[in-house]
Order: sequence, then C-alpha cells, then structure tokens
Amino acid sequence: MATSSTSLSSQFATQLAGRVAVITGASSGIGRASALLLASRGARVAVLARRKEALDTLVAEITAAGGEAIAVPVDVTDQASVDAAAAQVAAAYGRADLVFNNAGVMLPGAIEERKLGEWEQQIDLNVTGVMRVIHAFVPQLVQAAAEGATVDLVNTSSIAGQNLYPYFAVYTATKAYVSHLTRHLRIELGPKNIRVSMIEPGIVATELQGHVTFQGAKDWLAGAEKTMEFLQPENVAESVGFIVAQPKHVNLQQVVIMPTKQTT
Ligand SMILES: NC(=O)c1ccc[n+]([C@@H]2O[C@H](COP(=O)([O-])OP(=O)(O)OC[C@H]3O[C@@H](n4cnc5c(N)ncnc54)[C@H](OP(=O)(O)O)[C@@H]3O)[C@@H](O)[C@H]2O)c1
Repeated sequence: MATSSTSLSSQFATQLAGRVAVITGASSGIGRASALLLASRGARVAVLARRKEALDTLVAEITAAGGEAIAVPVDVTDQASVDAAAAQVAAAYGRADLVFNNAGVMLPGAIEERKLGEWEQQIDLNVTGVMRVIHAFVPQLVQAAAEGATVDLVNTSSIAGQNLYPYFAVYTATKAYVSHLTRHLRIELGPKNIRVSMIEPGIVATELQGHVTFQGAKDWLAGAEKTMEFLQPENVAESVGFIVAQPKHVNLQQVVIMPTKQTT
C-alpha cells in the first residue's frame, strides 16, 4: 500500500520522541543543523556553545517550529562550565541520552612557524574539550542506559583523522585522537548498551574555514572550492539523524561523508 507524504513526515516527527539530546558547537555549522534536525524529529535538545545570542536564536527557531530546546551557554575549554551545563540539562530534562560531541576548531599552519598558541588552542578544544564533555555527561548516559533508554555518544571527527594534508598536522592529529578514542570507548561502553559513533566529514561549508589565517591553507581551500561543491551542514546532520535513529541494538561505528568530488 502506498504511504502518503503526510504520514511519512509525521513518522519522522516522532522518530526521536522521548530522547534528550545535547549538542556542542550548536551555535553554527554542523551542530546547529543537527540541533534543528534532531528537534524536528521529536528530540528535546540542549544546545551548547559560547555565543548565547546565536543559541537563543536557534532555540526560538526550534520552538517556533513546534520543537523543544534550551540554550546552555558553555565554554568547553573550562571543566566547571561544562559541569554546570550538565547540571542545567539534568535540571531541565532529567538526563541526556544523546550527546553530539561536536565543538571544534581548525587552525592550519606550517610547523616551522611554531605557533604554539594555535597548537594549544586546537588540542584544548578538539581533544581535551571532547574529554571534558565526556567527563561531564557520561554519568547521564550510563544512567539513561541503565533505565533502558536508547543511548548515543556521537563524536565529530573528520576525514582529516585518516588522511594527510600539508599544514594540517596538528588539526589532523586532534581528529585522529577523536577517531581512536571513539573506537576504544565503543568497546568499553557498548556492553553497557551505549552506542558510540563518529562522524568523519570531508569539507563542509561552515564558519570553520573562516578562522583559517595561514595563506597556504587559504589558497588550498579556495582552490578546492572552485573544483567541487562542498557539503552543507544539513547533509552531515542527516547522517547524525540516521545514526541515532537506528534500532537500539545497531551501532553505526563510523560514518565517512564526503563531497562527491573530494577524493582525498
Ligand atoms: N567544516 C568542515 O569542513 C569540517 C570537516 C570535518 C569535521 N569538522 C568538524 O565539525 C565540527 C563542527 O565544526 P563546523 O564545521 O560546524 O564549524 P563551526 O561552524 O565553526 O562550528 C564550531 C562550533 O564550535 C563552537 N565552539 C568553538 N569553541 C568553543 C568553546 N570553547 N566552547 C564551546 N563551543 C565552542 C562554536 O561556537 P561558539 O563560537 O559560539 O562557541 C561553533 O558552534 C568540528 O569539530 C570540526 O572540526 C568540520
């Protein structure tokens, strides 16, 4: 029997009903698009980033569309701030059962320029920041799993975690960390019925490239833009939505999503 488009969209609207999602890096790019998508599928979403105004705008957008969301300003380079965010989520929604650990920054540069500050910034956000979020939210995920809920920890890595790009040594190393961490956490948390996944995108058109100051990388990105259509954040959000909507016993461990014309 044919299914009408109306019943198909209402099926999606309740797909994640009852889920409580925490999304870091939600003020722009992949995190923002994922918050909109998860909310549109029925999850209550806590959106985390530093820019409060952007979070408030996002919450208003979700609420206007009939969804439920709270803005939780946070700096993931500060454990006290992340712990306070976890407490705020628990107070609002009981506990999270879905954490999209996504905030990150990319600052390419020639190693000989020795920009220690930029190396530290990337490691503190992409590596230690990811760990701070896990530190704060793993108790909620364990609790949710013990209650029988479907539970997800999704980490944003990158194709850069697998491939080699000149001038991206520190960034790619932070993403290799996230990918290896994810594989290890899965074997530890899987037996507790917590799914652990990573999304590894190729180039996505977001604010990420806007922070790049190193000319060699700017030129490379500008050249790439001429030869291919970059992914949009919504394309990645669809994959995140697919990962978390699987039946409870199905863990998509690693999803690589590339612009069709990006080959490395
Ligand atoms: N774009 C790509 O080509 C691409 C490819 C592969 C992987 N990725 C990864 O995807 C993730 C999301 O990046 P994006 O492309 O969506 O870039 P984006 O638009 O620049 O988003 C980065 C997000 O991280 C947040 N953030 C930065 N510093 C933070 C801090 N100290 N505390 C809390 N939040 C912080 C930003 O919000 P505030 O500034 O408001 O804090 C923003 O919401 C990153 O991990 C990135 O490495 C991106």
